[in-house]
Amino acid sequence: MLEFAALLRQHRLAAGLSQEELARQAGLSGDAVAALERGRRRNPRPLTVRLLTQALELTADERMAFIAAARGHPPPDSAPVQRAPVFTAMLIGREAELKDNLRLLTRSDTRLLTLTGAGGIGKTRLAIEVSAAAEHAFADGVRWASLGGCTDEATLCATVAATLGSTTLADLGPETLAEYLDDRALLLVLDGCEHIVGATARLCATLLRLCPRLAVLATSREVLRVPGEKVRVVPPLTEAESAHMFTSLAASYGARPGDADMGHVTRLCRRLDGLPLAVELAAARVNVLTPEQLVTEVEGSFRILSSANRLAPARQRSLDASVRWSYDLLTADEQRFFAVVSVFTGGWTMAAAQTVAAGAFPRASSSLVLDMTARLVDTSLITVDRSGGAARYDMFAFVREFAASRLDRTGLRDDLEHRHLAYYLRWSVRAQSELDSPAAESWLASIDAEVGNLRSAWRRATALRRRADATRLARTIAAYYRLRGRELEWRTWDKRAHSSHP
Ligand SMILES: Nc1ncnc2c1ncn2[C@@H]1O[C@H](COP(=O)(O)OP(=O)(O)OP(=O)(O)O)[C@@H](O)[C@H]1O
Ligand SMILES: [Mg+2]
Repeated sequence: MLEFAALLRQHRLAAGLSQEELARQAGLSGDAVAALERGRRRNPRPLTVRLLTQALELTADERMAFIAAARGHPPPDSAPVQRAPVFTAMLIGREAELKDNLRLLTRSDTRLLTLTGAGGIGKTRLAIEVSAAAEHAFADGVRWASLGGCTDEATLCATVAATLGSTTLADLGPETLAEYLDDRALLLVLDGCEHIVGATARLCATLLRLCPRLAVLATSREVLRVPGEKVRVVPPLTEAESAHMFTSLAASYGARPGDADMGHVTRLCRRLDGLPLAVELAAARVNVLTPEQLVTEVEGSFRILSSANRLAPARQRSLDASVRWSYDLLTADEQRFFAVVSVFTGGWTMAAAQTVAAGAFPRASSSLVLDMTARLVDTSLITVDRSGGAARYDMFAFVREFAASRLDRTGLRDDLEHRHLAYYLRWSVRAQSELDSPAAESWLASIDAEVGNLRSAWRRATALRRRADATRLARTIAAYYRLRGRELEWRTWDKRAHSSHP
């Protein structure tokens, strides 16, 4: 084990800094650095250690070992301790999330903070940054447990025991782990809980009850539902952030998109819904495709987004595999419902889902649809927007492609599309009559949300040669576009639909 003094010297030399330069960058005196390196000053204060780790730009891993050495603990790798994954690419965006989560995590009333959201949205990446930044608030440091390989409570406890540096605890249950943790002020990161969410919830409940100074930071596509849990949904990157991520990754592959490519890059990122994993997989294709070709491919299908990165966990090697990981955790009914809602375009309401889903669940009660919707929200397969009068649900485009492929296997598509058409036909008749009423403004806003569904219902009616229905839908849509001052857009749609269904 390297003494702190030797470790400091090693990192300083690796960074190519003299003692004076390091001192200046860290905001310390040259004497202080010299004293630490000679071992004259042991036990540096946490602030000093932090200033040094920042000035040395240590990775999360190196930082853990450095801090452990500063406290005279054996470095984490003296036991089979799991490390936080190390990412070499720079962090894009996340300033607000980092600040918010750091504030939450360092408050004494936050015992369990769960970062949730879709697969590949960046939960693990954010947890790495948040836990490293929160380290100073936990006298006994941060421990990282990747739960990917855990299958039940026993393997979960063994993994956590190992990360606490004890193999002897491996076979013992949550209570023994709690005894071992006792009143240590520790931040335990549980990364990737969704496949053993029940066991993780029970473990957290026990540990948090018995260990007063323990805090847990969990990443999970599904929330844990432990009392006191605070939940933060990790949002997609903005368009600008995704574009920045794409171009810097492309540059690392030796491709430099020029100014003329930027329009394609923006379109690509929009199609990828700001999902970092998708951006990463797309950027990995720049060795063979231009941004323009990439966007054309991806607007057709997300199939080409798979990577040859053998180091990534299997579920992150393609978007398809990422969604399948969540899909496989659903019950058969939930899987069916997930396929059903792929008939919607641009989101849907509970009422619409209840009407359309009746085609797949003949005896479905409204509460069953509510429960299944809740499960899909909880598992991050669909998103919910509660900002309007009625909640709306939606899916990322690549998730919808996966769900649609599952719908094709059920043989239910025709029937469901008919129900979708019937529902939006009724809805559009009502909407059109309201466009002349005092409530016109609020109906216009409703059509803003439903125009994707209206257009796809209209396209279906056109394809099925149901002229009266198509005309009724077209009348509402045209009125809407006119009132919004976007007539030209509608004419383009109209022309395109008629040229594809002569
Ligand atoms: N803000 C970011 N800046 C740069 N890269 C990022 C960012 N967020 C995520 N990534 C990269 O995107 C990929 C997916 O991110 P991450 O593994 O954190 O997703 P996740 O939400 O934990 O997914 P899963 O649910 O499958 O565990 C990773 O390779 C990660 O490095
Ligand atoms: Mg993860």
